[in-house]
Amino acid sequence: MAGKVLWSSRSGDMDDSMLRFTSSADTDKELAFYDIMGSLAHVMMLGERKIISQDDVLVIIDGLRTILSRLRSGESELDREFEDVHTNIEVMLTDLIGPAGGKLHTGRSRNDQVSTDLRMYLRDAVLEAVSRINDLIRILTDTAQNSQNIIMPGFTHMQHAQPVTAAHHMMAHAFKLGRDADRFMDAYERINVCPLGAGAVAGTTFPIDRKMTSDLLGFRRPMENSMDCVSDRDFVIETAFCASMLSVHLSSMAEELVIWSTPEFGFIEMDDKHTTGSSMLPQKRNPDAAELIRGRTGGVIGDLVSLLTMMKGLPLTYNRDMQEDKRSIIHSISTVIQCTAMMSCIMNAVRFNSDRMLSSALEGYMNAVDLADYLVNKGMPFREAHNAVASAVRYCILEKKELDKLKLSEMKGFSDLIEEDVFSILPIDVCVERRNSFGGTSQQNTAVQIFESINSLIEREERVRLEMSLIDGCWKELTG
Ligand code: ARG
Repeated sequence: MAGKVLWSSRSGDMDDSMLRFTSSADTDKELAFYDIMGSLAHVMMLGERKIISQDDVLVIIDGLRTILSRLRSGESELDREFEDVHTNIEVMLTDLIGPAGGKLHTGRSRNDQVSTDLRMYLRDAVLEAVSRINDLIRILTDTAQNSQNIIMPGFTHMQHAQPVTAAHHMMAHAFKLGRDADRFMDAYERINVCPLGAGAVAGTTFPIDRKMTSDLLGFRRPMENSMDCVSDRDFVIETAFCASMLSVHLSSMAEELVIWSTPEFGFIEMDDKHTTGSSMLPQKRNPDAAELIRGRTGGVIGDLVSLLTMMKGLPLTYNRDMQEDKRSIIHSISTVIQCTAMMSCIMNAVRFNSDRMLSSALEGYMNAVDLADYLVNKGMPFREAHNAVASAVRYCILEKKELDKLKLSEMKGFSDLIEEDVFSILPIDVCVERRNSFGGTSQQNTAVQIFESINSLIEREERVRLEMSLIDGCWKELTG
């Protein structure tokens, strides 16, 4: 059977293979609700501007609402025989209400329609992603609150560098995620503008009211230039970048969880819920959930590259290549939503092995710089102090001793500035507490970080709630 299209008046029907190749009905399923909202707003505007009669408007509104409830209940579904979601719904409408259905498309094109649909889809998806990030930040700050006394090594180059608290480490992740959420909310402002009414490229001769449709759909304002309206996919790429940045952070967290749960580290134990057994080795618990987060987020970065590459060679304005944006962005945003939620589950149930973290922090001479700072305070230039402590560490390695276990007489061999009081600055917990410069790992500083992070979290949660209720209000008006 030849496929059904909206434009057969010019070129005749497509054959099956062409239709299968060009159809986007599968990915477009996600857009069906938004397509109907867009059509409801458009037809209300056409009526208001007397472009079509009030009778037709009422019949079309009624038909669109019926189609929505049939799609929701599963009574109807998008048919792959039709090119895309727009065609599907217009065909359903004409089947339902007759020729009046054909009046809906007055003064618009699928080019402005598809971008409007995708913007509405992404608004919701971004708010959902930000909510999931907010949940994860809350779990991390709670974890931080409960782990202010847990001392562990802070690593650089994967080598023991300076002791930190587990709370400080958790907050480092929380701040990265806070930026991810803020970045999504910035992108939200550029997603949330309305291209509807741009027509195919140049606008329309009908006296449409673009402000009205924009308001009805909850957008901030109509976009200014019709050619930009139908060719802009910056908002898609920007969202894909936000998702990619978040992916980098989730993947790095996942990698740490995998390493920390090895017997060699033994810093954490993941709940059995988030690990799997081996089909062959009965003793094993594998950190599959974290590994899958690390693996799947790779695809999100792939989506960003696909989108950038797909757009970079396109002249203005709409080109069919752009249909491919939906496959990538829907995959990208839904993957990060799932991965963020799974990371919350893992972090909620993870157990810190504080003894192991502490004993690891006691290895590796992480108080060496404290000894150097001590000498600087006694008047030695830092470079000289660095050399003296390096010799002390070399000596400790030979003697298989930690710095704070040396006798004063041995210490004095490295500098006669060293006195009995050196022993008060070398214990690991003192090293942590003395790092009280702004942003440092001392308990007091970490408490400030937790406080700041929760404050911005509450602000962001409030903003998400507000945007969600604005959108919800629009849907209530449109669906009657
Ligand atoms: N399915 C198309 C897309 O997703 C909709 C726009 C089609 N416009 C056109 N002139 N063929 O991009």
